[in-house]
Amino acid sequence: MAVRNIREIGDEVLYKSCKEVREITPRLRELINDMFETMYEANGVGLAAPQVGILKRIVVIDVTGEDPLVLINPRILETSGEQTGNEGCLSVPGKTGIVTRPGYVRVEARDQDMKLREIEGTELLARAICHELDHLDGRLYLDRVEGSLMNTEDLEEEN
Ligand code: NI
Repeated sequence: MAVRNIREIGDEVLYKSCKEVREITPRLRELINDMFETMYEANGVGLAAPQVGILKRIVVIDVTGEDPLVLINPRILETSGEQTGNEGCLSVPGKTGIVTRPGYVRVEARDQDMKLREIEGTELLARAICHELDHLDGRLYLDRVEGSLMNTEDLEEEN
């Protein structure tokens, strides 16, 4: 396993649409392992393949540090409610902004064995799923920020 370089805002790879995964290969398994390692090392709760420069529909999420989820070719089946709160992105270091997301989301995705699964999330998991799925379509949370973007340092000073 290896920590990969996280692409940052301005890198064109972050604004492109990703391709569906047709089959799992040793190379993709390695990518998934590396994505987890990269996410944990950066203290993130989610990471999408384009953030490490790979235009494939693969996302890893772990909102508790104990529930690693792999979402391959994810598709939203249902959303409901809404939540408004702070959001950040490993590709936009040091920044945070207020974003409204669904309060509940149900998705269909393949796991690392290409088994089709359904995943439901509320609160942070719902937010993370929506945020990471946006990455697969070349979209950053910055498009959705309400008000102005803040520095995480300033936020820490306020609290
Ligand atoms: Ni992100």
